[in-house]
Amino acid sequence: MADIGWTLGIESTAHTLSFGLVDSNGIPFPSVSDTVSPDQGGIHPRQAADHHKDVAPILLDRLFEKNELKPKDITNVAYSQGPGLGPCLRIGAAIARGLSTKLNAPLIGVNHCVAHIEIGRQQCGCDDPVLLYVSGGNTQVIARLEGRYRVLGETLDIGIGNMLDKFARAQGIPFPGGPVIEKKAAEWLAENPDASMDGLELPYAVRGMDLAFSGVLTAAQRLIDNGKSLGAVCWSLQEHVFAACVEVAERALSHTGKTELLLGGGVACNNRLRDMCEIMAEERDSESFAPPRMYCIDNGTMIARLGWLEQKSGRNTALDESAIDQYLRTDQTPIIWS
Ligand code: ATP
Ligand code: FE2
Repeated sequence: MADIGWTLGIESTAHTLSFGLVDSNGIPFPSVSDTVSPDQGGIHPRQAADHHKDVAPILLDRLFEKNELKPKDITNVAYSQGPGLGPCLRIGAAIARGLSTKLNAPLIGVNHCVAHIEIGRQQCGCDDPVLLYVSGGNTQVIARLEGRYRVLGETLDIGIGNMLDKFARAQGIPFPGGPVIEKKAAEWLAENPDASMDGLELPYAVRGMDLAFSGVLTAAQRLIDNGKSLGAVCWSLQEHVFAACVEVAERALSHTGKTELLLGGGVACNNRLRDMCEIMAEERDSESFAPPRMYCIDNGTMIARLGWLEQKSGRNTALDESAIDQYLRTDQTPIIWS
């Protein structure tokens, strides 16, 4: 394989189009991104895809400018092959194929979920963690076993971030709702330091090693309809669903005997969740790691990083194998790198 110079990473699984870079040593450089935010309602896949198509040239120019690079400096092109929304994934893949052909730069399609894990490992310097991957579309507890990232537990219905966004939207809070819920919960707690769950109970989302969030969503809305304040419900909602995630993560640590917990995905930006993970890890003589927030949310840099790891280990994606896979699973990708 020709020498690897700069690897470009293209992320387009859902609401965000993002371009990022790693250098010849796999060192990450921050992404340039743009996120579609619908005026009302949820994200429409084709609208998001149109957004990605429209902003792509501007974002790419900005990335090159910021890093004082020219297109010819790109020697490898990585893109999210799945999982995600079909129309959005197709835009990213089309850009990747076009650039790869034009620049004569080998192409590599990567697994978006695995990219969240690998950028976290690189950033936090942990080796063999249990991953709590909490994003809009995904909620999974993952561990590396026998050459794959295995999903030990996951949501049985909607992703935790989608649940937070849906709850927020019903209160008139635009996407993304998670950060606003975090702020409202923290403000309410500051005013109510003796807060108790009395009257604020919600269903508990754990089902064995799995999780479920649609029942909690309905129950939280019912508390609002019954006159509870938004801040109180945001606090209770976070406490319940984060505790459920941390419980499954703790059980995964216990079952696998691993001693590192790594957070990933957009919801991992949340300070309360980070604190809960740290407390749990400390109580069992383990360590909890959380990457910088820009590498928790969807970003092109993590795609570049995984592409770099895979290509260094000899894997490339031929054009006739470059189709996207909306339903790509975390454990479908063999780990060929170290
Ligand atoms: P994936 O394709 O991996 O499911 P995604 O498309 O959902 O990812 P991410 O950027 O990983 O995208 O995550 C976005 C989610 O993260 C949104 O649901 C958003 O509300 C949530 N989020 C972002 N910041 C916070 C926060 N501080 N607290 C809680 N949730 C947050
Ligand atoms: Fe993601």
